[in-house]
Amino acid sequence: MLANRRILLIIGGGIAAYKSLELIRLLRGAGAAVVPVLTRAGEQFVTPLSVAALAGTPLHRDLFDLTTEAEMGHIQLSRAADLVVVAPCTADMMAKMAGGHADDLASTLLMATDKRVLIAPAMNVRMWQHPATRRNLATLADDGVLTVGPDHGDMACGEHGPGRMAEPRAIMDAIAGALGAGIDAATLGESGAAPVEGPLAGRHVLVTSGPTHEPIDPVRYIANRSSGAQGAAIAAALRDLGARVSFVTGPATVPPPAGVQVVAVQTAREMLAAVKAALPADAAVFCAAVADWRVANEAGQKLKKDGAGLPVLEFAENPDILATIAAHENRPALVVGFAAETNDVIAHATAKRARKGCDWILANDVSPGTGIMGGAENAVHLVTADGVEDWPRLPKEQVAQRLAARIAARLGSGA
Ligand code: CTP
Repeated sequence: MLANRRILLIIGGGIAAYKSLELIRLLRGAGAAVVPVLTRAGEQFVTPLSVAALAGTPLHRDLFDLTTEAEMGHIQLSRAADLVVVAPCTADMMAKMAGGHADDLASTLLMATDKRVLIAPAMNVRMWQHPATRRNLATLADDGVLTVGPDHGDMACGEHGPGRMAEPRAIMDAIAGALGAGIDAATLGESGAAPVEGPLAGRHVLVTSGPTHEPIDPVRYIANRSSGAQGAAIAAALRDLGARVSFVTGPATVPPPAGVQVVAVQTAREMLAAVKAALPADAAVFCAAVADWRVANEAGQKLKKDGAGLPVLEFAENPDILATIAAHENRPALVVGFAAETNDVIAHATAKRARKGCDWILANDVSPGTGIMGGAENAVHLVTADGVEDWPRLPKEQVAQRLAARIAARLGSGA
């Protein structure tokens, strides 16, 4: 699956560093070459010898290592990789990355690289929820840094909540997604990422995810804050139940899961075309935060401050992908939409379900105070023809698993 891919793995200083040893083993097992970098703090948690032995290659530790600098240099080291992975990525490392610091080998590599960067944050729950970490995460997302995790659960420090580093297999999944690696069913089966059986085996499910980008001119666009986290989690949960998943995604900051058919798009119109091309499907989940409007007078050249006054943008309404597919001749048997609302959530969602012609709507409150858009958790209400079910606030992965189980039950019952 990852044959001949080169991963620069930066191991930060966290108790989760021991899991990175397992990650190295999994990566090498999938055919990837791992070039490890251990930070000074990381050395407190795993030994340089075990990292180098598992990676099967010398370990990089120092910025001013004369031998390394003479032979290769940190600039080249950062660029020879296909992907840079930071696992565990501590709160301090995130702050350094967001601030552009370059005072040791790891931070210098992260500044010098021209490749994508994937971080697996790991820290105490309060540190994860701290406004500074929230700010840094948003900055990193804006910079195009991908994230996987953290998971919820009991932490080494005795507290409970989000902050545990994602499991090595989930990080593998994210690495494969970030590299757009081809999926080898046998390898995935072995790594536990994609079972070949399950209640959705033989079923095809379509998932839309992420924001759309609507161009203003060749260098500017209109977007929204969707990270694609909920859509990616739903695709992974459906895959885990054995479904063949077509994953049509806008430019999200969370990488697509491995083991799904990824179709990357930019605009709403491209998303609609990709969704139509993926039909027929047994079920479709429309999770994307599609831009309602696009710029009708998109400029072919960069708009300039040429003294002619402020540019005036004209808007045109985008096609409603969910409503189009719900009324399509090839309509999937089960069509599920989301309703992102900031007020009167249930009333709006119930009306939206009827207006768009879908079977189920997962309604959520995306008011700024909820931290849902771009956050790790979601609190949804399932609106169906039978009424409204309130689900508790849950990590997005668990919302996805519940939904996937419901989809499997519905398709299995033939109703
Ligand atoms: N959706 C879509 N295509 C669009 C807009 C929305 O497929 N052009 C889908 C979303 O993926 C989601 C559902 O429709 O499943 C509802 O999206 P939402 O943004 O909540 O609703 P809007 O259509 O924007 O309606 P309103 O502006 O009234 O909130």
